[in-house]
Amino acid sequence: MSKLLFQQLFEKESSTYTYLVADSETREALIIDPVIETAERDLKLIMELELKVLFTLETHIHADHITGAWKIAEATGAKIGVSAAAETVGADLKISDGDQLSFGAFSVLALATPGHTSSCVCYFVDDRVFTGDTLLIRGSGRTDFQEGSAATLYKSVQRRLFTLPDETLVYPGHDYRGFTASTIGDEKRHNARLNQKIDESTFFKIMADLKLSEPAKIKVAVPANLNCGRP
Ligand SMILES: [Fe+2]
Repeated sequence: MSKLLFQQLFEKESSTYTYLVADSETREALIIDPVIETAERDLKLIMELELKVLFTLETHIHADHITGAWKIAEATGAKIGVSAAAETVGADLKISDGDQLSFGAFSVLALATPGHTSSCVCYFVDDRVFTGDTLLIRGSGRTDFQEGSAATLYKSVQRRLFTLPDETLVYPGHDYRGFTASTIGDEKRHNARLNQKIDESTFFKIMADLKLSEPAKIKVAVPANLNCGRP
């Protein structure tokens, strides 16, 4: 019987998680948020595990690193999937809310969750959700560029992600403190910005008070990512 094969990979410069997910029997796979600097590592692993990567999926247009999507797609023949809300060049699949893609006996369901950026998508597979920067462990992505909106992010998390079963595993796009996974139930209770006791106006204030500096690579990363990481 098919099992979900799962690898959580880490890129240390941007603290980004890349996820490799596959059907153990058919070896059909998808990769979520590969990073250009670690694409060779990922390709080696894909070869070792004898996987056939059907899709590379982006949770959003990243501002802090360049995607490895093009590199992985070139080497494997995978189709590149990016949100339909982003004006990308070279994406094979424009992902919209509710889209489903099959790999082996499994499928991935796209949940549009704008707010951190206008093009954020979470991916639900089996018992887990890949949340990109929409929902981080005990935190959330910022909302001050790329058409980010605290009001939209609040809705995406409270009315969309927090309606998933409490036991759903949460795998975020980054972690800066060494955490690897959480659950929807734990984030509802303990997320510092978005737990269910925090109302909308308090969340707006938290986000407005962050006053973060721009990501160092934003001017290079965003145009490169709109090109799916193609050089
Ligand atoms: Fe981001």
